[in-house]
Amino acid sequence: MAKNKSEGYLSAKESRQIAKANRKVINDLEKKRKRKKVPESEYLTTMHDDKNAVEFDNLHTYFFTDAGVVKSVDGVTFEVPVGKTVGVVGESGCGKSVTSLSLMQLLQRPQGQIVEGEIRLNLGDKAYDIAKMPYEKLQDLRGNFVSMIFQEPMTALNPVFRIGAQLEEVLELHNKDMSKDDMKKRTIELLEMVGIANSEGVYKMFPHELSGGMRQRVVIAMALACNPKVIIADEPTTALDVTIQAQVLDLLRGLKSKINSSIMFITHDLGVIAEMADYVVVMYAGRVVEKGTTEEIFENPAHPYTIGLMASKPVVGKQVDELYSIPGKVPNPIDMPNYCYFKDRCNMCVGQCDGAYPGEISLSDTHKVSCYRYSGNEKKGV
Ligand SMILES: Nc1ncnc2c1ncn2[C@@H]1O[C@H](COP(=O)(O)OP(=O)(O)OP(=O)(O)O)[C@@H](O)[C@H]1O
Ligand code: SF4
Ligand SMILES: [Mg+2]
Repeated sequence: MAKNKSEGYLSAKESRQIAKANRKVINDLEKKRKRKKVPESEYLTTMHDDKNAVEFDNLHTYFFTDAGVVKSVDGVTFEVPVGKTVGVVGESGCGKSVTSLSLMQLLQRPQGQIVEGEIRLNLGDKAYDIAKMPYEKLQDLRGNFVSMIFQEPMTALNPVFRIGAQLEEVLELHNKDMSKDDMKKRTIELLEMVGIANSEGVYKMFPHELSGGMRQRVVIAMALACNPKVIIADEPTTALDVTIQAQVLDLLRGLKSKINSSIMFITHDLGVIAEMADYVVVMYAGRVVEKGTTEEIFENPAHPYTIGLMASKPVVGKQVDELYSIPGKVPNPIDMPNYCYFKDRCNMCVGQCDGAYPGEISLSDTHKVSCYRYSGNEKKGV
C-alpha cells in the first residue's frame, strides 16, 4: 500500500484515482511522442549560445506512479559548453540520472515523461529540442551526437556475445554502408584508443574474460564508436577500484581533448569532480541549487547545501574526529514543500526562508545560487 501525503497510507480507491488521472496525462504525452513523420519544424530550435553543446532549460521530468507524481527533475537549467566537462553532483535521488536520461530519451516509459522545458542539442548547423522530439527521430542522434557511459559495465555488455561483435553492432547501426573489414579495423582502433593493449585478442573475448577495468574501457569504446559530440558519464568509475578509477579518468580526459567532445560527468565524488570538471552543477531534490566554474564552487561555495557537501569531504592530512554529515533527509519528491527544499536541513536560515522557493541569484557571470542569504546582494560571496 502506498504512503500518502500525511505519512499515512493511500486507500485502494485513492490509488485508483491517482492511476486514472495519471493514465490520461501519460496517454496524451505518449500519443504526441509516438507520432510518425513529425515535421522537423516542430522540434527545430536555436541555441541561446552557439558555444554550448547542450542547454537544459527549465526541464521538468516526472514519474507518474500510483502513489502520486514523482517530480524527479523540477525546473533544471544549465549548459554544457562545447569541449568542456560539466560535473553534476548531489546526493542520491536528487535527479542527476533522470536529467541525463531525459537528454537520451531513455526514461522508463510510459511512467517517466518530460512534461515541461527544453533540452537544446547543438548539431552544428542547427539545433533540436529533445524535449519535443518524437522517439523515432531521436534514435538517429543517439550514438552519433550523444552517447552514454553507464556505471556498471556488465549491464551495458551482453554476456553471450564477443566484444568485437558488440562493438561492430554499434558501428553497423550508425554506419549502414561500412564494409565488414572496415568495421573490424575501426573496432580494433577503438579498443586501442581506450588503452587496450591486446586489442586483437580482446576482440575475440567474451565480457566475463575481462577484468572490471577492461570492461569499463570497452563500454567507453562503445560510447565513443561514432565520435559523439556529447558524452554522458553517469558514475563511470564507481564500480572500479581506485587505481583503475584513476586510469579510466585519465583516459576520459585524454579522449575528450582528442575528439573535442563535451562531457556531462555525474558523480557523488567531489574529488573526481575537482579533477575532471571545468564547471560544476550542484543538484538538490530535483533542482539546481548552485552552479559555477569548478574554482568558484570549490573555493567559494555559496549554497548551504554545497557548503555542507564540501565539509563532508575528507581532506588528506587534516585530523578530524568525525566527518561532517548534513543532518535530516531529502523531502519526499511526491510532496515537495512550497518553500526552499533545503530549509528543513539548513542551519543558515534567514527571515525570508519561510517564503516561496528562492530564485536564482548571480554572484558572477558564471556563479549562480538559489538561496535567500544572497538576495539584494548579488555580488556578495561567502
Ligand atoms: N522509474 C522510476 N519510477 C519512479 N521514480 C523514479 C524512477 N526513476 C527515478 N525515480 C525517482 O527520481 C528521483 C531521482 O532519481 P535519480 O535516479 O535521477 O537520482 P540520482 O541523483 O541519479 O541518484 P543516485 O546518485 O543514487 O544515482 C528519485 O527520487 C527516484 O526515486
Ligand atoms: S534559502 Fe534559506 S533555507 Fe534555503 S538554503 Fe538558503 S538560507 Fe537555507
Ligand atoms: Mg544516478
